[in-house]
Amino acid sequence: MTQKVKDWERYFVPPDLKAAKKRGKQDVEVLQFGEIPEDMRRIGEGKYYLIRTYGCQMNVHDSETIAGILEMMGYRPTESEEQASVILLNTCAIRENAEDKVFGEIGRLKPLKMENPDLVLGMCGCMSQEEGVVNRILRQHPYVDLIFGTHNIHRLPFLLKESLFSKEMVVEVWSKEGDIVENLPKVREDGLKAWVNIMYGCDKFCTYCIVPYTRGKERSRRPEDVLAEIRELARKGYQEVTLLGQNVNAYGKDFKDRHYTFAHLMDDVRKIGIPRVRFTTSHPRDFDDHLIEVLAKGGNLVEHIHLPVQSGSSEILKMMARKYTREQYLELVRKIKAAIPNVSLTTDIIVGFPGETDEQFEETLSLVREVEFDSAFTFIYSPREGTPAAKMKDDVPMEVKKERLMRLNQLQDEISRRKNEALRGQVVEVLVEGESKKDPNVLSGRTRTNKLVNFTGPKHLIGRFAHVRIDEPKTHTLKGVWVEEAYSQVGM
Ligand code: SAH
Ligand code: SF4
Ligand code: F3S
Repeated sequence: MTQKVKDWERYFVPPDLKAAKKRGKQDVEVLQFGEIPEDMRRIGEGKYYLIRTYGCQMNVHDSETIAGILEMMGYRPTESEEQASVILLNTCAIRENAEDKVFGEIGRLKPLKMENPDLVLGMCGCMSQEEGVVNRILRQHPYVDLIFGTHNIHRLPFLLKESLFSKEMVVEVWSKEGDIVENLPKVREDGLKAWVNIMYGCDKFCTYCIVPYTRGKERSRRPEDVLAEIRELARKGYQEVTLLGQNVNAYGKDFKDRHYTFAHLMDDVRKIGIPRVRFTTSHPRDFDDHLIEVLAKGGNLVEHIHLPVQSGSSEILKMMARKYTREQYLELVRKIKAAIPNVSLTTDIIVGFPGETDEQFEETLSLVREVEFDSAFTFIYSPREGTPAAKMKDDVPMEVKKERLMRLNQLQDEISRRKNEALRGQVVEVLVEGESKKDPNVLSGRTRTNKLVNFTGPKHLIGRFAHVRIDEPKTHTLKGVWVEEAYSQVGM
C-alpha cells in the first residue's frame, strides 16, 4: 500500500449509524470556490474528458460541476473513450445493482487504461464514500488512478494534478459532515432546464438507506444564494428549474440565524420570472400545511409532487424509520388533492423489505389503488452494508420479492394507463426539449406534470412552449399533435 492510501485510512470513517447520528456539533461552513491555481489552469488544454453518471439528479448535477471545473482547467468534453485523457465514473450506491454496473464498467475500461497509461481513470460519487468499495478497488482494480468523494469535488484541480504527477493511486475521501461550497462552476446539460441544489445531505436515516452516510448531514444553502442562482438562470433564458435535495421539506431547519422554511423559499421562487419550478424529493413527514398553501398558488409552481411512500404498511414504515403511518400519508395526500385538484403524484416504493409479509405487501397494493399515483419508481429491497436494515432478519425469498414487484408494477401500469387515458383529446402545455430519441421527425417534451409527450410539429418549437392535443395516450408516454397557438387553449 502506498503512503497516499495510508493517509486516506486516517480520514476514513466507515458507515456507522452511531457515529453518523452524532451530528450537528460541527458548524457548517460556507466556502467560496476560488480560482483554479495558476499551474493547473492550462493543464487540460488540447485534452478531453468524459464523465459517466449513475444515480439520482444530485449526481447528475454534481457531474455538471465536475465538468465546470475540468473546463476551467482547459479540458473539453468528448463522448469517445479513446479520445479522453480523463474518464470519471460518478457513481451511485443506492442498490447493489447500481454498484455492480460500476464495477463492470471499471473492469471493462482496464484494457483501455493499459493501452493508454496517460489516461486518468477516476471514480467519484457515492460509492467512493463506502469503505468496502474503496478497499475492493485497491485490491482488484489497482489501475484506477483517482478516487474522490462527494464532499471534496471542489478539490478536483489539486487531486487531478497529484494524479497526473504521481504513479500511485490518489485517494481522497472525506467522511466529515460536509460544508457548503458556493460559486462552483457548472456546465449545464442544456440551456432549457437546470438543476439547483437547495440543500445537501440527509438526516432522516431511513433504516435501508445509504444516503445519509454518503452525503453527510443536512445543510441548507442560504436563500439569497439559491434565489440569486435562479434569477441568473431566468436571465439566461432557462425555462425550468428543479430544486434539489434529498429531503427538500427539511430545508432551512438548520438555519440558526432565521426562520425560513421550504415553503418560504417556494413562495419567493414563485415571484421569479422562470416559467416552471419543480422540486425533488419531498419527505412526507415534513410536508406542512404552509407548503401546500404555497404550492396551491400555482403559477410557475407546477402541479407535480414526487412523494415517496416506500410502503403501504404502517408496521413496515416503522421498521423503515420513515416516521409516518399509512394513515398519515393518506391524510397528507387528501389535503394535497383538495388544495391542488389537478395535481399529479408520483412515488417510490420498496418491496421485499426484511420480513415483509404477504398481508403487508397487500397493504402497499391497496394504498397504490387508493392514491392512484401517476407513476411510481419501484424497487426490490437491496441490503446496504452498515445500515440498520442490513442486520434485520430477512426470510422473504427472492422469488417472492420478484413476484411482488411484478404485481405492483402491473397494478401501477393499469393506473398510469387509466390516468393518461383521461387526457385523450385534451390540449396540454409542453416545454419542447428536442427531437424524440426514437424518431427525429417527432418532437418531444414534458407537461407541467412531467409527463413525456411525443408529437408532430415544426422544429422551430424546440426550446419553446407548445400546445399539444393528446390523441394517443400510452402507459408511460403520451402521443399528440401540435395545435397552433391561435386555436389552442391551456390544458394543464
Ligand atoms: N431522498 C429521496 C430519495 C432517496 S433514493 C427520498 O427519501 O425519497 C431513491 C429511492 O431509492 C428511495 O426513495 C427508495 O425507494 C429507494 N431505495 C433507497 N434505498 C434502497 C435500498 N436499500 N433498496 C432498495 N431501494 C432503495
Ligand atoms: Fe434515504 Fe430516507 Fe434520506 Fe431519502 S429520506 S435519502 S430514503 S434516508
Ligand atoms: Fe445514488 Fe448517491 Fe443519489 S447513492 S441515489 S447517487 S445520493
